[in-house]
Amino acid sequence: MNILLLGSGGRESAFAWKISQSPLLSQLYIAPGNAGTGVYGKNVNIKVTDFNAVKDFVLKNSIQLVLVGPEEPLVKGIHDFFLADDELKSIPVIGPREEGARLEGSKNFSKAFMRRHNIPTAASATFTKASLSEGLSYLETHPLPVVLKADGLAAGKGVLICQTVEEAQTELVAMLQDAKFGEASSSVVIEQFLSGIELSVFVLTDGKSYKILPEAKDYKRIGEGDTGLNTGGMGSISPVPFADAEFMKKVEDQIIKPTVHGLKMDLIPYQGFIFIGLMNCGGDPFVIEYNVRMGDPETESVMPRIESDFVDLLLGVANGNLEEKELKVSAKTAATVMLVASGYPGEYLKGKVITGTENVRGSTVFHAGTIQEDGMVKTAGGRVLAVTALSDTMFGAVQQAVTDAGRIYWDGRYFRTDIGFDLL
Ligand code: AMP
Ligand code: GLY
Repeated sequence: MNILLLGSGGRESAFAWKISQSPLLSQLYIAPGNAGTGVYGKNVNIKVTDFNAVKDFVLKNSIQLVLVGPEEPLVKGIHDFFLADDELKSIPVIGPREEGARLEGSKNFSKAFMRRHNIPTAASATFTKASLSEGLSYLETHPLPVVLKADGLAAGKGVLICQTVEEAQTELVAMLQDAKFGEASSSVVIEQFLSGIELSVFVLTDGKSYKILPEAKDYKRIGEGDTGLNTGGMGSISPVPFADAEFMKKVEDQIIKPTVHGLKMDLIPYQGFIFIGLMNCGGDPFVIEYNVRMGDPETESVMPRIESDFVDLLLGVANGNLEEKELKVSAKTAATVMLVASGYPGEYLKGKVITGTENVRGSTVFHAGTIQEDGMVKTAGGRVLAVTALSDTMFGAVQQAVTDAGRIYWDGRYFRTDIGFDLL
């Protein structure tokens, strides 16, 4: 079959790498892809939000399945666009419709969903410009630190952890009155701070049954020892030792089952990934957020651990028979080290020539922010390459990935050498 994968990051590179190994695949296309995805299929120069261009391409190239990588096209309704079009409606899209995508697109919606279905999450209240003064007095007596979240998508910047009441009140005014995050902060969720250790849990569902994909831990801070600014993710590990059978049973019973069942109860059809970002608070899981896509850089550690045919699993979602499919997972540990541009997550330069990827020995290199130009591979983003190693031990996997990351070079490249440090 012919598959179209939408997206251009490290997550999509890992998807493309895995899909390209399937005997069910005829041709894979990646739109727009990057300098690395061309190895696994054909890159197509289409923007993921240009639905009409996607339609033309799908029809001209007999695409039989569309896998959506990032959240933006889902939140903007690409799945609904397919269903509303006579020529497209029989072509399965992996990724929820607009309403299901609100689990990620609106914090207020996802908090209400969790409350309705008794899913453990931080206590919260939502305020708008009209209820700003109530919000300010609500903050007066709120325990500290307190978490403020812009309701809508704010490019990963809409969450603020405030240490004082004054700071929280100033930020609330900035968000609601001065539109600090534009339309995204026209509504703000004020939330209890959860302390614990974070985990990313991934579920694939056809809306009826589900498979729990390998879990992962993401390292979000720029500096060693989890210090400094927040990034899109500097590396990941899978599996995560504290996510043992007992903890994962709690996650399944208290979060996954009520989530999939809740979608059914609320008559929200859902075919795709549910990424549950959760906090392990003293052995009990609490949901921090839902995403309606896979994580990045988690996917780069998750895909190498999936031994089953990934296309067959996607077909299970498309055809509503996921229950009949088998998910086989490797017991090995995958470690991913992200190589980023100097200055990231602040301002950084692009267009640096990347060398040394041919010297990588025991790892897989997934491209993220790269382009091919004048016969050379150059940097084109903050997060540039993800290097993933699979080994019998976590120590072995991290060591291999770090060694291989060191074999790759461009002016100003940076990576963390301590991925997994807190788990060893
Ligand atoms: P989000 O955009 O919801 O993923 O939030 C970004 C990050 O903020 C999360 O990955 C957590 O590290 C942190 N965070 C969000 N909500 C909370 C909370 N209630 N308590 C503690 N940390 C939080
Ligand atoms: N790694 C976190 C995310 O993809 O949102």
